Amino acid sequence: MCGILGLLLHDSRTDCAPEICEGLSLLQHRGQDACGIVTCGYKGRFYQCKANGMVRDIFDEKSVQKLIGSMGVGHVRYPTAGSFNNAEAQPFYVNSPYGIVFAHNGNLINTASLLHYMDATAHRHINTSSDSELLLNIFANNLQQTGKFRINEDDIFTAIGGMMKQVKGAYACVAMLAGFGIIAFRDPNGIRPVGMAVRKSAAGNDYMFASESVVADASGFTEWDDVKPGEAVIITRTSVSRRQVHEPATFAPDIFEFVYFARPDSVLDGVSVYRSRMAMGDALADEVRQVLTVRNIHVDVVIPVPDTSRVAALNLAQKLNLPYREGFIKNRYIGRTFIMPGQQMRKKNVRRKLNAMALEFVDKNVLLVDDSIVRGTTSKEIIQMAKDVGAKKVIVASCAPPIRYPNVYGIDMPSRNELVAHGRAEDSIAEAIGADLVIFQTLPKLVDSVRQFNTSITAFDCSVFTGEYITGGVDEAYLSHIESLRADNVRGKVAAMTGDLSTTEGKGGGGVGRGANAGEPIIATLNATAQNGVDNTVGLHNSYSYS
Ligand SMILES: *[C@@H]1O[C@H](CO)[C@@H](O)[C@H](O)[C@H]1NC(C)=O
Ligand SMILES: *[C@@H]1O[C@H](CO)[C@@H](O)[C@H](O)[C@H]1NC(C)=O
Repeated sequence: MCGILGLLLHDSRTDCAPEICEGLSLLQHRGQDACGIVTCGYKGRFYQCKANGMVRDIFDEKSVQKLIGSMGVGHVRYPTAGSFNNAEAQPFYVNSPYGIVFAHNGNLINTASLLHYMDATAHRHINTSSDSELLLNIFANNLQQTGKFRINEDDIFTAIGGMMKQVKGAYACVAMLAGFGIIAFRDPNGIRPVGMAVRKSAAGNDYMFASESVVADASGFTEWDDVKPGEAVIITRTSVSRRQVHEPATFAPDIFEFVYFARPDSVLDGVSVYRSRMAMGDALADEVRQVLTVRNIHVDVVIPVPDTSRVAALNLAQKLNLPYREGFIKNRYIGRTFIMPGQQMRKKNVRRKLNAMALEFVDKNVLLVDDSIVRGTTSKEIIQMAKDVGAKKVIVASCAPPIRYPNVYGIDMPSRNELVAHGRAEDSIAEAIGADLVIFQTLPKLVDSVRQFNTSITAFDCSVFTGEYITGGVDEAYLSHIESLRADNVRGKVAAMTGDLSTTEGKGGGGVGRGANAGEPIIATLNATAQNGVDNTVGLHNSYSYS
């Protein structure tokens, strides 16, 4: 997952970087691996600062001061399993045509054919294995094809519309054209979020694009409006233009944003994340009551697994008339385990991150509420912690149904056989994580928990629960393909973590990632030609001659 941000200040003498930096820190939960800002100043010069690390580590007073200009783009990126390569930090830049800067959240699923198109037809070099760089170059190529010295908004809309026809997958993007303005667009299914807001003053309006509305609220921007699926928005110093550049497809925002990813104080597509989590707790309470009655189990206390599930757990406890206790105290200065790459790191982190207060567990039947169960490794560790401090029975209630399929739209989910619920019935999931019982939210109830706040949303992307992928193009071959990449990458990552960076780099497979890895294998295939030693022409194959 990633966070994206664009800002245009009406006063061209004010630098926008401090505010982008502030905004990125509010999006930090969407990615803690790398971050970056590019601004555009006088004469259309771009100033950039991007690197691996958290916003507070990368941006200090000195680095922010160097980012000159009143418009800019920012990005936070979550770990791409195995990639320590800050060449992949965003925003990306291409000089031609006109100078474009680009930040992307999501994942493309037809990277193989797109890379081939880049090489064979567009003759553009893609340096990293990031699908975001690919997407940027498709956009640039489409703009290039206008062949014009100066382009207008029509040309930009046309280029984005054309791009939407070429690419498949999830993408919410913010771009900037040198000396011109900022642009945002969202894939035709609207899987990933991005919206816009305005800060009005007598002197003029400032405009913002951001992944989540919380950024706008915190910076005094109002009139939050989600970019529509298949829509593009261009903001210049003199105008705001919006256009539907792709015919409407099924709007299907990713329901996992509400379950886990987004901040509770954000409103996405008219739905308060906080309210939807309250509703998830209410709905789950009904399910829990029913199951406990049937199984004749008594629960003494409801304890949330911090932080995401707190909201739901409190509502659930109230509805079941059970005491709610904060039994786990979080060490706030350690990152979220879900988005840390590499299994080993994840295991160690749970206990570093949480402490169980014996007082609230001893001799009790405990109902732990969690937002979801992915690998089950975290749940297993937490359940063990509860038992270690004296819990009699541990029952787990999950706000989301069993996750049985990988996410291919930009959330870094493990491959199917790493998902504890894949191919397992619920009782056997309980056994696998060491719980006495696991109670899952049903999918219709989860959907209703979100949808009740905006009933005009007719579908959600629920592929991690159902294995049905809204964009099409995700078949067994594709899933096995990304899984094999992933496996390679995890191996590379472990090598990298133990200090053996050379192994990672040398394989060229170390730079893995968020499904973006999809780029890697193709490269390997094309490489085969170069390896014959016959082909000495310039092109993609030669660019990747490292293997
Ligand atoms: C191209 O990729 C390599 C290897 O990942 C990286 O070291 C380098 O900085 C990249 N070059 C540019 C211009 O981004
Ligand atoms: C509800 O969702 C629809 C899309 O189905 C969107 O057009 C509308 O703006 C949303 N409502 C609000 C209040 O954001």
